[in-house]
Amino acid sequence: MAYERLMEPITVKKTTFPNRIVLAPIQTSFATPGGETTERLIKFHENIAMNSVGLSIVGATDISPKARLGANGLGLYEERQSSSLEELFDRIRKAGSIPAIQLNHGGRVINPEINNGMIFGPSAIASAATGNIPRELSIEEIEELINRFATAAGYAKKAGASMVEFHGTHGLLLNQFMSAYSNHRTDIYGGSTENRARIVRNILRRTREKTGNDFLICLRINADEFLENGLTVNESSEMVKMFIEDGLDIVHVSAGGADTGALTIEEGIKGNLIKLAGEIKKQVNIPVIGVGGIKNLDQAEQAIEEGHVDMVAMCRALIVDPELVTKTLEGRVEDLDECTDCMECIGGEPGINCQMSPDL
Ligand SMILES: Cc1cc2nc3c(=O)[nH]c(=O)nc-3n(C[C@H](O)[C@H](O)[C@H](O)COP(=O)(O)O)c2cc1C
Repeated sequence: MAYERLMEPITVKKTTFPNRIVLAPIQTSFATPGGETTERLIKFHENIAMNSVGLSIVGATDISPKARLGANGLGLYEERQSSSLEELFDRIRKAGSIPAIQLNHGGRVINPEINNGMIFGPSAIASAATGNIPRELSIEEIEELINRFATAAGYAKKAGASMVEFHGTHGLLLNQFMSAYSNHRTDIYGGSTENRARIVRNILRRTREKTGNDFLICLRINADEFLENGLTVNESSEMVKMFIEDGLDIVHVSAGGADTGALTIEEGIKGNLIKLAGEIKKQVNIPVIGVGGIKNLDQAEQAIEEGHVDMVAMCRALIVDPELVTKTLEGRVEDLDECTDCMECIGGEPGINCQMSPDL
């Protein structure tokens, strides 16, 4: 296969991605306890970036010191952390990939043990995944978080990223706000679709003010939450249309999350997440990144050829074999290491690992 569609560059505003292959965001837990980069984290990204991956999205990065996803996760809530990212972005770019970073607040699913015993959410409802009841955020606190997301985006731009991705999937804070399953507020941040979308709309507008017209803004959103009262394709598409008015450039579609356990991965393996991304793509006019269960370039090419997505993200396949794209393009398929879906990689602290890739 020639992978003509996959290898075709795509330009969004002034940024040209050399091809449509994306490293999905991966929270590696390879950072310092202060949320700064390490040589291990940089090498992890460089090894993937130098193997013809058009866009590299650095994984979930905390926008607040009060909402750390992991004790060794990246942070972007202080200027010093921005400086530490400069080398990471520079080396990704020099390796031939466009550097981007995912900005996150975990909301009600963060671990209270590493956050002074406190957790926050849109409503005081426990996540089924953790059982912990969060404190409901006040309007003033929501305003502060909106500023924190936009400030972190400004830091990312200053450090050399071409794009930020706001983490709106998998049961984390922005997803919690967007979903009627987890958001029971009765003020301007809850209730109607428009009200539940408001926190993201305000983040997008404030980020645009801070970063200017050319900087790329992406949102990772759930096409379906697989939960009663949760987001579905139609409501998510309605929200994406609003977000485009607020300056969204690219949408990255996933599904499921903390409260649905393994479904995100299982539905991906069945090919259903890419099809859900296609359902969103039918309703919006910006580039769509799809993700979930893509193990090789044939599947990635097919996802674009069938019109489901514009770009294809891979996570576990590139953890297992950072050289996947190079080996495939050179016809060295017998050298490929393939992900077995063992899910050991997601173990968390003290960092991701992979039985197929022991040198991570
Ligand atoms: C070890 C690991 C870390 C992950 N970290 C993140 C993250 O930081 N942000 C995010 O949105 N998704 C994260 N994900 C989900 C992936 O980006 C991706 O959506 C999921 O693994 C499905 O893609 P795949 O079938 O190609 O692995 C992570 C997944 C794994 C396995």
